[in-house]
Amino acid sequence: MRRTRIDAVRGRRVWDSRGWPTVEAEVELVCGVVGRGIAPAGASTGSLEALDRRDGGDRLGGLDVLGAVEAVNGAIARALRGVDASDQEAVDRRLIELDGSPNKSRLGANALVATSIAAAWAAAAAHGLPLWRWLGGAEARTLPLPEIQILGGGRHAAGRLDIQDFLLVCPGASTFAQALEWTAAVYHATGALLAESGRLRGVADEGGFWPELDDNEQALELVLRAIERAGLRAPDQVAIALDVAASSFGRGGHYRLAAEGRVLDTGAWIELLGSWIARYPIVSIEDPLAEDDLAGFRAFSERFGDRLQIVGDDLLVTSAERVRRAGAESWCTAVLLKPNQVGTLSETKAALEAARGSGLGAIVSARSGESEDVTIVHLAVGWGVPQLKVGSFARSERMAKWNEALRIEEALGSRARFAGTAPLAARR
Ligand code: PGA
Ligand code: ZN
Repeated sequence: MRRTRIDAVRGRRVWDSRGWPTVEAEVELVCGVVGRGIAPAGASTGSLEALDRRDGGDRLGGLDVLGAVEAVNGAIARALRGVDASDQEAVDRRLIELDGSPNKSRLGANALVATSIAAAWAAAAAHGLPLWRWLGGAEARTLPLPEIQILGGGRHAAGRLDIQDFLLVCPGASTFAQALEWTAAVYHATGALLAESGRLRGVADEGGFWPELDDNEQALELVLRAIERAGLRAPDQVAIALDVAASSFGRGGHYRLAAEGRVLDTGAWIELLGSWIARYPIVSIEDPLAEDDLAGFRAFSERFGDRLQIVGDDLLVTSAERVRRAGAESWCTAVLLKPNQVGTLSETKAALEAARGSGLGAIVSARSGESEDVTIVHLAVGWGVPQLKVGSFARSERMAKWNEALRIEEALGSRARFAGTAPLAARR
């Protein structure tokens, strides 16, 4: 369609939730509508992720993105002019060809993902639809089960706890809105318990409380007590999910628990995780092993894969090819989908389709460095992905996403469905 052809692409430097520079792109169509996208940024990144382009040097810790912005304004703008934004695959194919590198390092995954997102919003706006509806049509009506961080650790909190995320899920809620209300109660109960015991240090990068605890298990105990104080029941109403992000402290089959002052080999580390699984209402664990420990992942999945969801993040880096291998070789039971790990929306969707084809679950996820951009919520609803992970229940870059999901739930009215227990019940 002529009116949805791309007329102009603009890039600019904006700032993310950690105060570092990031790339914003705007795509303007012939009909005059404009779509916008902002690249997020990770801290506990997988080694096989697509690479953000950063300027290097001394300024701003080397993290400036003027080169990536220039790529949007120059090469990308020239290459996309005239491409139909309604054809997301054509847009993304052009971006991938133009970059030409295996890991998006030439133009930068930050430049590509911002542009890919901006094109999607422009196409939706040109059709007079919200993005979730443009992506999913009339079938899009499921609100995902949110995974919401209560405590932050790992690289997001200077290693105070080894485990990166202690999250709450509310499979027993009947609506998305109720899940948020229950989470709010547990979040504030956690804060109150920490303040009462003098163990509150602040909040970590994604808004979860940053506690001063002696070991990882104390954190599990704390979340359990907060659930009780909030008057909720585990595991039927609410439960715990972990993102271990084990690549941050494990390498070569050795897991260095700084918070506990000990080093465990893969077998002992799996035993420790198993003891937590036996004693706490844990229904999902992400990256329990380091990305270089495939044997560990397989052993862990064999032992616990029928009891809880095992998610690959650093392990799979939103790569369709790795997702297929994970399915064939039983590395894990679900994939985390982060568009900037791979660089474009079409490649993210390909990873989702690979997961569906392999019988793996899926979770759309934010990064630890975020912005007001709410695209991931629209991807989850539009693509029918039944789980969404955004960070905690504080800080506006997180709340913008939760609040956007509430607006979508309201717009769907009586047609809205809440994923609830379904994504966690579907075991392999
Ligand atoms: P990251 O962390 O964005 O810092 O990589 C998020 C996650 O591990 O899920
Ligand atoms: Zn993760």
